[in-house]
Amino acid sequence: MKILMASSEAVPFAKTGGLADAVSALSLALAARGHDVRIMLPRYYGIDTRDLRKLEGELGVPMGGGEEWCAVYSAVLPGSSKKNPVPVYFVDHEHFFGRDGIYGSSGETDFLDNPRRFTFFCRAVFQVCRKIRWTPDILHAHDWPAALAPVFLKFWERPLGPEGEFAKTASVLTVHNLGYQGIYGKENFFYTNLGWDVFYRAGFEDGNMMNFLKAGLYSADRLNTVSPTYARETQTQAQGFRLDGVLRYRSDHYTGILNGIDTKVWNPKTDRLIPQTYSVDNMAGKAAAKAALQKTFGLPVDADIPVFGMVTRLTGQKGVGELFGPAYGSAWSICRDMKVQLVLLGSGEAWCENEIKSLTSRLPNFRARIGYDEAGSHLIEAGSDFFLMPSRWEPCGLNQMYSLVYGALPVVRNTGGLADTVENYHQETGSGTGFLFDDLTPAAIYNTVGWAAWAWYNRRKHIEAMRARGMKRNFSWTESAKQYLAMYADACSMPNLVGQHNFVGPPNKVGL
Ligand code: ADP
Ligand code: GLC
Repeated sequence: MKILMASSEAVPFAKTGGLADAVSALSLALAARGHDVRIMLPRYYGIDTRDLRKLEGELGVPMGGGEEWCAVYSAVLPGSSKKNPVPVYFVDHEHFFGRDGIYGSSGETDFLDNPRRFTFFCRAVFQVCRKIRWTPDILHAHDWPAALAPVFLKFWERPLGPEGEFAKTASVLTVHNLGYQGIYGKENFFYTNLGWDVFYRAGFEDGNMMNFLKAGLYSADRLNTVSPTYARETQTQAQGFRLDGVLRYRSDHYTGILNGIDTKVWNPKTDRLIPQTYSVDNMAGKAAAKAALQKTFGLPVDADIPVFGMVTRLTGQKGVGELFGPAYGSAWSICRDMKVQLVLLGSGEAWCENEIKSLTSRLPNFRARIGYDEAGSHLIEAGSDFFLMPSRWEPCGLNQMYSLVYGALPVVRNTGGLADTVENYHQETGSGTGFLFDDLTPAAIYNTVGWAAWAWYNRRKHIEAMRARGMKRNFSWTESAKQYLAMYADACSMPNLVGQHNFVGPPNKVGL
């Protein structure tokens, strides 16, 4: 199959979170099965054009009644096989992408012109295909920044009729996080060049605003999210972020496919970013990593004290309010009351960064590094005994899978992909791979960390058995790639007719 990934992030070129890991790893897994996979990304300022190849000529992209001109660069996705490499195409537009930051900067967390930037990107996807004379069987869009690509396919390209280049292309939209939908003033709809009838038929309408993700959810032929539990949760009012009605409406074509992990990058047996590699049969390297972690973060080097690690974006989704909220967060009492060490690497909301800095100055057993640090994240996974992830919602979550294979037992909230990958500890039998709790409250986090620390000090045999169990888990992308291929085949078999002229659809206000 010819598969085109349209995404705003892909490692190693642009990353703010797990989306970037997922897009590249899935592409490699599909290419390894012999498919022709290509990725399309904006050329952000941070991507050095000296490492890329420039395609000849310029590219015109219809936008807002006129045309925008841009250049196209290409590269090969690192990790690709020589036999079947994955090309990456970069859309280069100085005005839209020639600035620091992917979605925003510290001064402007969501760029004012994001609707325009990503409308442009989604429209450019088709023009690049024309330029390289390559038509995908599947257009696979990821999250709200690429969500207009399936909309353009359905309401611009397909109406060109059987002679149009994309007449046979089917689309898939993957929701990596329903918490980000791209909701903007509807005056931005102008940039799409689509008629106002399409504003309603394609499901853009969101109160008096325009919702990128919602339009994608109406328009794509097939939808999925990144874990089965999150697929169920998002169809409930409690966790549907106001789009649960749309997702229930499309439930016949909406599934959950668990992400895998890139086992070439995240593998304690081969990891070059940790002091010494290790495996379930030889754990000396894990002890060395723990000592290195304690030393690096300025904590007393002590093998007997359990280390709880965190690597996270500091934002409400990740439960940081309940952990670090001034006066009520539980990190303070955990570190004050328990014989544990807590180590954190993360960046995000300013209040949280400040609170963390303040806590580290008052607690001898809590150390943090504010910032983004690839090597640091590997050291934390390898050096920690437990990994804390009290997410409010978690579509999949990669870190708990990394920590399982690195022998750091996850302490996580029972939600989304966390519920699908971590099995709760059973105190009587010793079964399980981690520690789960239901309520997102400071007390529940406190109690569950306390439970894990209790098991560390009183049930060490259980801890070691759980560790071994987790390290043997196989989270490779192979299985998920098969499920994506099945979804692609299904998408090609029958397009989604919602909003087509011959379709008398439901009111556009479903779920709103
Ligand atoms: P999300 O995408 O919601 O942030 P995931 O668990 O799916 O959550 O993915 C997060 C990814 O980002 C992981 O690869 C993790 O290691 C990485 N990451 C997050 N914060 C940092 C940081 N401060 N430094 C290094 N890596 C980070
Ligand atoms: C999102 C989600 C995360 C998921 C990642 C990759 O960022 O928050 O749970 O693992 O996408 O799919």
